Amino acid sequence: MSVQSSIQSSIDQALPRVAALRHRLHQIPELGYEEFKTAEAIRGELDALGIDHVDGVPDAPTATIAWIGDLRKPCVALRADIDALPILERTGLPYASTHTGRMHACGHDGHTATLLGTAGLLKSMANELPVCVKFLWQPAEEGGGGAERLVDAGVLDGTLGPKVSAIFGLHGWPGLKVGTVATKPGTLLAATDVFAATFTGRGCHGAYPHMGIDPIVTACEAVLNLQQFVSREFDPTDSAVVTVGTIHSGTATNVIPDTATIEGTARTLHSAARRQIREGIERRCGGIAAANNCAFRFDWTEGYPPTVNDPQMSEYVAGIARTLLGPEHFLPVSRPSMGGEDFAYYLEKIPGCFFLVGVEPPDKQTYPSLHSDRYDFTDAALAVGMRMFVELVKGFRV
Ligand code: NI
Repeated sequence: MSVQSSIQSSIDQALPRVAALRHRLHQIPELGYEEFKTAEAIRGELDALGIDHVDGVPDAPTATIAWIGDLRKPCVALRADIDALPILERTGLPYASTHTGRMHACGHDGHTATLLGTAGLLKSMANELPVCVKFLWQPAEEGGGGAERLVDAGVLDGTLGPKVSAIFGLHGWPGLKVGTVATKPGTLLAATDVFAATFTGRGCHGAYPHMGIDPIVTACEAVLNLQQFVSREFDPTDSAVVTVGTIHSGTATNVIPDTATIEGTARTLHSAARRQIREGIERRCGGIAAANNCAFRFDWTEGYPPTVNDPQMSEYVAGIARTLLGPEHFLPVSRPSMGGEDFAYYLEKIPGCFFLVGVEPPDKQTYPSLHSDRYDFTDAALAVGMRMFVELVKGFRV
């Protein structure tokens, strides 16, 4: 039997166990930094595999870090995110969430199980590998920025375990068939900054608007005006999104309130655009506040940076996918997506590649989207993820 087919048969053998593990994780979804049961399951599996692990890092007690192989060799890191979402699951699956109002609707159960399966496979060949391998089970991808805390804890720079030369991570992707892998060099995903603007006028009776200053009309004017940032101010060949997602004000139909607040997300693909969009949103909201005699407060919260794949590492992933899965099963992604990912924090520090793994079964024409209450990571995609991770490690040359 060739080496290639023996790896595939090991994966085929491991798949039922890895799928069962995923189903167990799927039943116990937990929100960012609260993944204590999930971490316990991960650590239990590592114990069963005989792999030592570091439990928790400063500010992220639910993280689990492990490494295998010859530490004198360069180190490649593989990462899985482990958190779930505040969504009521409606899949009707036998292994549906037992935590009401919590759900693995982004498939991080699949990522976590894929990485555990990979650890088991790589452990059996640890001495023959060209690198040592570090595994990161990272909490709080969904807005909590767990990746940044792991970077700060020194998981890449050699403070915690071996220093890492390159990193890979994957995400299950509806819209791509199982057995398909996709990525792109350069920017794959957007920065995810958040803004809030509060307009303070002067409340009064709704029948006598001239006695007060109306913050609701001001906020509405701002929401509409912000739509002109992208269309009139931003380079049309570049990409940006301004979405106002919340608007809060008022308590009664016949009262003009004192304040109105809008909050939204600002998506861009590089740091200059990030600065420009912040300045543009603040100036437009501030100008409209002034025109309407409202006081104005602006808050900007930095979200995740853009996720930027190293061109060489991206080509490396593409080459392996083409060889393993067939050239037609690697899809070069032509344009970035305006979604975001905290994998960006690792890629700011070291080269690597984040890639997408298809989860749509061959017999389905559509599949629930990420964050849908009917989404489920597909078990067959676990095998594709494991195969990609194993080959990325085995073939790695510094
Ligand atoms: Ni996700």
